[in-house]
Amino acid sequence: MKKLLEKVIENNRNYTEFGEVASYIPELTKANKNALGICVTTLKGEEICAGDCNTKFTIQSISKVITLIIALMDNGKEKTFSKVGVEPTTDAFNSIINLEAKNPNKPLNPMINAGAIATVSLIDGENSDEIFNKILNFTRKLAGNEDIHINENVYRCEKETGDRNRSLAYFMKSTGIITKDVENVLDVYFRQCSMEVTCKDISRIGAVLANNGVIPWTKERVIPEDIARVVKTIMVTCGMYDASGEFAVNIGIPAKSGVGGGIMASVPSNMGIGVFGPALDSKGNSIAGIKVLADLSKELNLSIF
Ligand code: DON
Repeated sequence: MKKLLEKVIENNRNYTEFGEVASYIPELTKANKNALGICVTTLKGEEICAGDCNTKFTIQSISKVITLIIALMDNGKEKTFSKVGVEPTTDAFNSIINLEAKNPNKPLNPMINAGAIATVSLIDGENSDEIFNKILNFTRKLAGNEDIHINENVYRCEKETGDRNRSLAYFMKSTGIITKDVENVLDVYFRQCSMEVTCKDISRIGAVLANNGVIPWTKERVIPEDIARVVKTIMVTCGMYDASGEFAVNIGIPAKSGVGGGIMASVPSNMGIGVFGPALDSKGNSIAGIKVLADLSKELNLSIF
């Protein structure tokens, strides 16, 4: 396995040249465009890494999976999906058009920004510190890593430049989707996106989902089985934004990307995979990371379809 991972990293590193690191949040431009790493966590207990697997990066939209799990555990499916839909989109992750044009009462799904902000507003807690700490502690538990923290520079930058997210959130307050204080909800969202992780952390989170909500290395159930199933389904249909269909056809693994360059994949009953490559394609997904997952899926026959 180690040899295979090294081979897929080296075979695909040249694709990083064809992408660009995210620039809409200035702090993210500091990433090394040519970095590429992978970690695989199998349910049998193996953990194998290759390439730039120790580099820290911000989790960004991969955190949307974690907040969806918590919102579902706090509210149940019926209430959660009365506020946010489960339908894929053909528009960009930060698009505003569907909020007004398609269904003003519900963002399309929890993996686009509008839906993720609505989702985080559903998490129970007295104030934004308590809600964020709940998200941070759950992330640490899923990753088996107490050393996950916020990157303060990215957080500050997200907050300073997050006007598109602000407009999405205020629009949703006006239509009654969000009922809490908008700035407090956004503060939690900006902080969750700024958590710093490695390939290994996201690979382990993918492994917990692959194991239907039971942490493979402690055997503790931390996510109800039905919620793990629902979340993996939404990762297939919506996790790679408006490239989700193509990803399902070519790779066929539940996955979620983030503009920090991470992709978290979860192969049911088999393994979690964490990939990091900050050069992104035009849809905001790691350009070489997708190629790495395509090769691995083919070599190991990982498609669920
Ligand atoms: O909401 C934002 O702008 C980001 N902090 C997170 C977006 C993200 O990762 C989209 N991913 N591809």
